Amino acid sequence: MSGARDVTILGLGYVGFPITLMLAKAGLDVAGVDIDRAKMDAFAKGECPINEPQLQDIFDDVLEKGSLSFLDTPGPSDAFLIAVPTPIHPVKKAADLHALQSACESIVPHLRPGNLVIVNSTIPLMCCRTVVKPILEKSGLELGKDIDLCYCPERLYPGNIAHEIVHNDHIVGGYTAKAAERAAALYGNFVKGALLQTDDLTAEFCKLIENTYRDVNIALANELDLIAGRFDTDIGHAIDLANRHPRVNLLKPGIGVGGHCLPIDPWFIAEMAPEESILISAARRRNDSMPGNIAARIRRAVKDNRNARIGCAGVTYKPDVNDERESPAWEIIEELQGEGYDVRIYDPVMGHGEYRDFEHFVSDADVIVSLVEHAVIREELDRKPSYLDGKRVLRF
Ligand SMILES: NC(=O)c1ccc[n+]([C@@H]2O[C@H](COP(=O)([O-])OP(=O)(O)OC[C@H]3O[C@@H](n4cnc5c(N)ncnc54)[C@H](O)[C@@H]3O)[C@@H](O)[C@H]2O)c1
Repeated sequence: MSGARDVTILGLGYVGFPITLMLAKAGLDVAGVDIDRAKMDAFAKGECPINEPQLQDIFDDVLEKGSLSFLDTPGPSDAFLIAVPTPIHPVKKAADLHALQSACESIVPHLRPGNLVIVNSTIPLMCCRTVVKPILEKSGLELGKDIDLCYCPERLYPGNIAHEIVHNDHIVGGYTAKAAERAAALYGNFVKGALLQTDDLTAEFCKLIENTYRDVNIALANELDLIAGRFDTDIGHAIDLANRHPRVNLLKPGIGVGGHCLPIDPWFIAEMAPEESILISAARRRNDSMPGNIAARIRRAVKDNRNARIGCAGVTYKPDVNDERESPAWEIIEELQGEGYDVRIYDPVMGHGEYRDFEHFVSDADVIVSLVEHAVIREELDRKPSYLDGKRVLRF
């Protein structure tokens, strides 16, 4: 198609930008579109706004190659890939699809026969068929005949995105078998993992099942932890022993579940099948209840003394990533602060807090609460340095 780019990516975040880089690195003519002005300004200056290993180096190479451009709005393209946010409505617990709908609408004027549209964002069941399809067909083109649609969800581990996006197996769910083949061919430009072709609905299900599996299993561990608390027994020790059973593999309890995926994705199943999703909804509620339970445990540890200096270490949603989205640690901290407790914060990965190192932080607290154990915090606590002598330490 003359004048058309090979691929246009809409949404240049944690998911869309690395895919953009990999496609451009593979030699395709790629355009990136994002509505965030500050992000686009950073890209224009050659700065990668996502703090992930290797991404800046790949960005530098790609810019030198000249195969990547940034556009304020999409233009003609052989393929469009949509990786915009799909958050959840905090009260309704239903997907907020405004960004997805708006991204789909923005490509409608540019759709031509033969185009391939790939949805990469995490979406509720049936979303390709009931939300995306009617918007794309406003172009007058028929899905499956004139244009192809494929759902290709992403499974990334923040902190290792550049590696995982290439080496993980990818699910490629076509509205038709031809759409899956075309999307697999496009991903084959950079993916070294398997490209597992299926239909769009199965692919939607797979993505949601993966994170629901994790969420439900974490909820079980958390619930067992709460039960153990009633009997004042050590759940970590009990789980270690139970896991010696050859077919048992319990996860570790924690302070709750955060990030952009696990606290959200199970609701995308429950939203579409509320009557059946009893366990899934209960697990979500159990994990959501954990910050409140942990805050109560901290209050008990300081005997409700609001003058006690509570040192909270780690605020990210999981260890060793600089991402605070949906972080249960912040929920705990904000609950305690809201009740007038004196909370000191230290996070060497996020750069939060006024302390030059862990020892300095410990010296300024009466009780140390390790909420998110980044490697540097864990190593220091395991080392049991003398400056911790006499300090009460709670580890989660
Ligand atoms: N971050 C992860 O680890 C991860 C993993 C798997 C799946 N996902 C899913 O991938 C999707 C994207 O997540 P993310 O973490 O990259 O989000 P993000 O917030 O980092 O990036 C999304 C980008 O889309 C842009 N955007 C919003 N509306 C737009 C529009 N109409 N046109 C163009 N750009 C637009 C935003 O400005 C933002 O820069 C979500 O559905 C998420 O659930 C994320």
